[in-house]
Amino acid sequence: MELTNITGLRGEVSVPGDKSISHRCIMFGSIAKGTTEIHNFLEGADCLATINCFRRLGIDIVEDGDIITVHGKGLHGLSAPDDILDVGNSGTTTRLISGILAGQSFDCKISGDDSLNSRPMKRIIDPLTRMGANISSILRNGCAPLYITKGSLHGIHYISPVASAQVKSCILLAGLYADGETSVMEPSLSRNHTELMLKEFGADLTTKHELDSTRATASIRPCEELYGQKIMVPGDISSAAYFIAAGLLVPDSEILIKNTGINPTRAGILKVCEDMGGDITLLNERTEGGEKIADILVRSSKLHGITIEGDIIPTLIDEIPVIAVMAAVAEGTTIIRDASELKVKETDRIETVTDNLTAMGCDVTPAFDGMVINGGKPLHGATIHTLLDHRIAMAFSIAALVAEGNTNILDSHCVDVSYPTFYDTFEQLL
Ligand code: S3P
Repeated sequence: MELTNITGLRGEVSVPGDKSISHRCIMFGSIAKGTTEIHNFLEGADCLATINCFRRLGIDIVEDGDIITVHGKGLHGLSAPDDILDVGNSGTTTRLISGILAGQSFDCKISGDDSLNSRPMKRIIDPLTRMGANISSILRNGCAPLYITKGSLHGIHYISPVASAQVKSCILLAGLYADGETSVMEPSLSRNHTELMLKEFGADLTTKHELDSTRATASIRPCEELYGQKIMVPGDISSAAYFIAAGLLVPDSEILIKNTGINPTRAGILKVCEDMGGDITLLNERTEGGEKIADILVRSSKLHGITIEGDIIPTLIDEIPVIAVMAAVAEGTTIIRDASELKVKETDRIETVTDNLTAMGCDVTPAFDGMVINGGKPLHGATIHTLLDHRIAMAFSIAALVAEGNTNILDSHCVDVSYPTFYDTFEQLL
């Protein structure tokens, strides 16, 4: 994809459904009794991988226009797959489905693409094993492919070393099949879609946020059944983030992004934009299915550097590539720290972000848990090596809009993972 600098992005857009929520609707709907009707489901490659896995596990999932219907078979209704489960590029599919499969009475294997099969799975293998699950890394390298056979699960109290919603969700889902209460304490609260949605499905789940620290705990007790729901998936704030950045950075712009999820465990980018001096207004705020939603109005702004660290990091972890692009344009220094999780995403995002920003003429230094960006130097066009990471492709497409000359985004089709219509949404603003 070849892009060049522009001015005046104006108009109203809607971004596709939230990726995290779309995965969970399919998974929870499959193990619930009755039908789950999903509106505004994200038809990205990651979520389609989740649909395919549950079809392989015997669940009838019907797509009819804009509505997806999952004919759930209850907590014990899944059947053995006839082949290895292909999770593609999706860490969320892999880690959450492992929690469900650990509680089943059949054997199965899970594998994905090269990026997925190099991401750490010990973080779920360890707690699941403590619960009594039989789960192993087939190549004994702590990564997928994974092999799961019948185990007998007991409740545990797990203190997670990382604030990871995928780890938390995996353990809570296994907890549905345990013989007692299972709880997960994390160092700071990661996205809580699992907790909110499982409660809607009828799970016996409680949450606690410690007053004197950032630690958060979610606990689940086994229940008889979950029950199918009707779900309206809000627009994905991680996808909206690219248009927020575009609206702030591209001169003479005004963009309204409709129906976007602003769950506080996801909305760190809004606080960062505000702290950097961005002109952002939330309109029409409301709550649906426990999730907060708003329309986001963004206008071109002069940004300045800030420090981003501590417990805000889990609330904006997927937005750091595009935040780094904003920091490259902002006047002054931006420091991003406490974000070593970036190294184990679809690519090592400390490396992919700093390498590509450097290629565009930015003064940026990588650190073990983040980066330091001395912003304000004009960016110039470059060849962007996405390494097939969707968020790198989209973040640097925004950088291209404010860089002198042409930028070539290699393998830009990788946006299909979370936002297949990304470049079409742009057209609407020209
Ligand atoms: C996700 C959790 C986050 C996030 C990922 C989606 C989820 O990962 O980066 O894109 O849906 O639970 P971690 O749990 O590894 O932080």
